[in-house]
Amino acid sequence: MHAQKFIIRGGKALQGSLRINGAKNGALTLLAASVLARRHITVSNLPQIEDVFRILDLLEKLGVSVERDSERTVRLGVSTSPVSTSLDPEIAKCIRASIVLTGPLLARFGEVSFPHPGGCVIGERPIDIFLHGFRALGATVEERSDSYRVRAPKGLHGARIFFRVVSVTGTETLLMAAVLAQGTTLLVNAAMEPEVVALADFLNTCGARITGQGTSYVTIEGVKAIDGGAATVIPDRIEAGSFALLAAATHGRLTLEQCDPTHLDALSAMLQDVGVRVQTDRISMTVDASHCSLVARSLITHEYPGFPTDLQAPCVVLLTQTDGESRVHETIFEGRLNWVNELVRMGARITIADPHRILVHGPTTLRGRSIESPDIRAGMAFIIAGLAAEGETNLDNIYQIDRGYEHIEYRLREVGADIQRADA
Ligand code: EPZ
Repeated sequence: MHAQKFIIRGGKALQGSLRINGAKNGALTLLAASVLARRHITVSNLPQIEDVFRILDLLEKLGVSVERDSERTVRLGVSTSPVSTSLDPEIAKCIRASIVLTGPLLARFGEVSFPHPGGCVIGERPIDIFLHGFRALGATVEERSDSYRVRAPKGLHGARIFFRVVSVTGTETLLMAAVLAQGTTLLVNAAMEPEVVALADFLNTCGARITGQGTSYVTIEGVKAIDGGAATVIPDRIEAGSFALLAAATHGRLTLEQCDPTHLDALSAMLQDVGVRVQTDRISMTVDASHCSLVARSLITHEYPGFPTDLQAPCVVLLTQTDGESRVHETIFEGRLNWVNELVRMGARITIADPHRILVHGPTTLRGRSIESPDIRAGMAFIIAGLAAEGETNLDNIYQIDRGYEHIEYRLREVGADIQRADA
């Protein structure tokens, strides 16, 4: 695929409404659950994004049948024996989340091989939690130079697994592995994200026996097998939050349709503290920053239901437009503030205290420049910065953005954004 860029011209307050798609991080685990089920599973409300396409590629290479019922619905089926239990390394290395497939493969077929997932710009991203959990469930782990082979020829048994740090995909992967284990598994210090709850609730409709999802203690009573079922991907709270911050940073007014405001308490509180008006009903949120004077506020990222690390970058752009000094503490990933060096080149006044802490001084005028998108969420932050800035921004490496935000330029043009896709 040839490299592309976005050409963004800023300075306009965005107005209108945007429909929120299914959650990237919710879709990936529901698709992975197809490996566990004896019969077909149907997943609907899938976002049309690169990471979903990559996971479907991986599933097909494992021998999972993938039928597209419609643009946003797939029907997945696993034969009793897979074509392979090895994740294709070329694809798996492109998408860290491919690791969620390891739990279902190990549970259903007794083994899985997968490449070192590798770190990325936001952090080293180790997998010790996954390996510790697999061993606790009775599997052996063979570490090779560039891959792992995990085996449990006699099946998995229940265990009490403590997470030394809260891990979203660690919780999801080990939860899926435990579904077919013999006996009871207790996950202690489990992640509480809505995507974890949605996965557990769906698996229960297929015959799993999971309780405690949404708390730090999740219990899984192993069963012999689970049937198929139908899942609908929940709204993408990170996409909704990104667009809410876009409205605020451009002093605009956006209504986000088909979202779940109950997944966005931390963001709503932050926006209102800054001085932005937020109105919600059951499935929509309106963010109105027109004629608002924005006040600096400090930000600490935290596991759900705290402020999501995936909204840190878009929120820092907003903070550059607020009056005063904001302290930002990124507690989850050690590399997730690196992107601000490029934001400073656009005119932001930011003091970097350490890899986890910065001070943002505002308000400052941002000026368009040529920038490269380092990852999905910082890429979205640079779209927001470009739309809030004076002048023109050329944003490269936008494959990263296409990984997480569907047809983003078309959707943003609907609310007044001046953004074009071009060959880099
Ligand atoms: C999930 O990643 C999300 N991805 C990330 O979203 C999100 O940023 C992250 O959770 C935190 O909310 C998906 O759900 C597909 P973690 P995950 O394991 O599960 C450390 C996006 O842009 N850790 O919760 O990979 C890790 O280094 C992506 O949509 C270990 O130490 O993150 C980090 O410091 C980016 N050992 C902390 O835990 C392990 O074995 C939390 O990471 C695993 C993780």
